[in-house]
Amino acid sequence: MTTTFANPLLATPARALPRCIAVIGAGTIGPDIGYYLKSALPGLKLFLVDVSQKAVDGALLRFQDYAKKAVARGKMSEADAAAVTSNLVGTLDYADIAGCDWVIEAATENLALKRKIFAQIEAVVRPDALITSNTSSLPAAQIFSALQHKERATVTHFFAPAWRNPAVEVIAWEQTDPAVVEYLRWVFCMTGKVPLVTADVACFMLDRIFDNWCNESALLLDRATAAEVDSVAAEFVHAGPFFVLNLARGNPIITETNTLQAEMEGEHYTPAPIFRSVDTWVTVPPGRKVEVTKDTAKAVRERLLGILFSQSVDIVDRKIGDSADLDLGCRLALGFKNGPLDLMRMLGEPASGRALMRLREERPGMPMPQRPFDAYQDFLRHILVDDMDGVKIITLRRPEAMNALHDEMNDEILSVIRRFENDPKVSGFVITGYGTRAFCAGADIGRFVDMLGDAPASAQYARDCSRLLVHLDRMKKPVVAALNGMALGGGLELAMRCHAIVAMKRAWLQLPEVTLGIVPGIGAMVVPYRRWPHAAATFNAMLRQAERLKASRAHELGIVSGLADDYPSLIGMAAARVRELAGKVTPIGDAPVEVGIEPVEARSTGGQILSRECIDIMEQAIREAAAAPTFAAALEAGYLAFGRSACTGAAREGITSFKEKRPADFGKTK
Ligand code: COA
Repeated sequence: MTTTFANPLLATPARALPRCIAVIGAGTIGPDIGYYLKSALPGLKLFLVDVSQKAVDGALLRFQDYAKKAVARGKMSEADAAAVTSNLVGTLDYADIAGCDWVIEAATENLALKRKIFAQIEAVVRPDALITSNTSSLPAAQIFSALQHKERATVTHFFAPAWRNPAVEVIAWEQTDPAVVEYLRWVFCMTGKVPLVTADVACFMLDRIFDNWCNESALLLDRATAAEVDSVAAEFVHAGPFFVLNLARGNPIITETNTLQAEMEGEHYTPAPIFRSVDTWVTVPPGRKVEVTKDTAKAVRERLLGILFSQSVDIVDRKIGDSADLDLGCRLALGFKNGPLDLMRMLGEPASGRALMRLREERPGMPMPQRPFDAYQDFLRHILVDDMDGVKIITLRRPEAMNALHDEMNDEILSVIRRFENDPKVSGFVITGYGTRAFCAGADIGRFVDMLGDAPASAQYARDCSRLLVHLDRMKKPVVAALNGMALGGGLELAMRCHAIVAMKRAWLQLPEVTLGIVPGIGAMVVPYRRWPHAAATFNAMLRQAERLKASRAHELGIVSGLADDYPSLIGMAAARVRELAGKVTPIGDAPVEVGIEPVEARSTGGQILSRECIDIMEQAIREAAAAPTFAAALEAGYLAFGRSACTGAAREGITSFKEKRPADFGKTK
């Protein structure tokens, strides 16, 4: 594995998935890492190693407890729970882990202790077994310097709760074989995590943000209380710094990590002395705020923004991490509502500049931007772009929303297509989704809330979201959708506008809009009938009853042109399809089509009662679109129907129920 791809799954892995892993340290995070591994790879043999039998017993019990809860919540089958809790060995003896493919150290944050543990590990495992540390701050160069086989060692830094939090930093230490870093990215991505590669500096990428955010908050206690700081911080984070410090018992950690940064990078990182004398902060929980005077709020807000922006530009300037990874990691791992670079963009140059100026005056030494403001904004936020022999692979990456589409993501895809569609070196494009679960779970439902009740605004939103799709309709260069997992709603509408679709065998397609009380507005009531008229009955059921279509059945119907067993075959097949379609892309026809709509019960194939009003709007739109004299007029019928559906009680119930994580009750709507 030599080439580095932005999408980790494009690489051909140098090794198979691990079959036997040991986690050293049965405290909190060790068992959580183990539980993630066993949930993702149930057949794995997992060793939990500690010096205390009590800790090992507690960790094994935690596995039982987590699995029981997952079954109770319907997140795991009984059979999976049984697999997750078997093949699990607690031990105090390092000799037991001799056969492991990978050993993850998650012991106390103490350099001498870690070095001792690594010596013990290296004495028993194979010379090519991977060895990684979950340290949050100690550079790999310090902890691994005494290893004989350094090339297989690095840091893999997880975030709490490690069984669920998708972010993992993978440190590209200079002594680690780059193929090991690539392999770890691949393994993490295959198992549902989001690997973020960072340089080997103290505190890596995300803890530089978190630790300094907390340290700055503590330094602000000379002008505000902890509750006031948390109240001001609530604009930017789901939980304030002092609330999180209480939760994580984090005061000693900030003292340690900022001391390390101060030793390595300068005394401006020195930890606030108050961390040494306070155990628990008096503050407010998320969702509650205390009154803060205007002047205090301004001072606190600017300093918090100042430290956030200072650390972010430093990370980008020193190439500690990638800009999109930084923003994504802050949202996924640290609970920020927006990534810091996005926040800079949203606030604009004057306000961001003021915050940085205040920091420069009040906290001399802190890093400042080295380049103009705009230089920090020039990156793709929601997609990854790779080149494979002249085919551009565009990967939708919004792991927090199963790659759901919104207008900025659409615009990014469009910008990449526009940039390369006239480039003779580029033969075409493949669009795929990040990870293994979802190609795309549809349009971002969060964005619908503001549109409810406003038909023209909703119809316009559908038109705006269609800019990319209408562009695809007019393209000469082929674009192929590679369905790596489920393709739902707007995601399926995107795939249907690509010039061909290939899919993993386990993928499935669905138009669940009707279960949300709305109609799919950007082509699903129009395009499939014109492209695959013989499958009209299938689309009628998909649209009106949210029937799922397996990729294998879509293949039989000719909707999907190829099925793959694994990711490399999927992408290979998609790229081959791009080449086959060169010069052969045909536009979707203008001629009216037959749709053959028969009456149907207002109930989904999954048994959910649906809204009759929503189905009526949909049927009318399908008929109108089928009879429309041009494809453009048919699409317009779809946009308008989406606008109408957004004004129904069913839409309000459906969208609200999704946000509230409960099934929609259309019994109380029309
Ligand atoms: N828009 C916005 N967010 C979405 C989303 C969408 N279309 N689909 C999933 N997400 C988010 C969820 O809200 C959740 O976020 P949270 O962790 O902050 O709560 C996250 O992605 C994971 O989804 P979750 O529902 O917890 O996972 P699951 O495995 O139980 O179910 C789905 C996965 C895709 C079946 C389910 O999320 C779903 O039904 N999504 C809506 C699909 C849809 O109706 N699409 C058409 C929209 S027009």
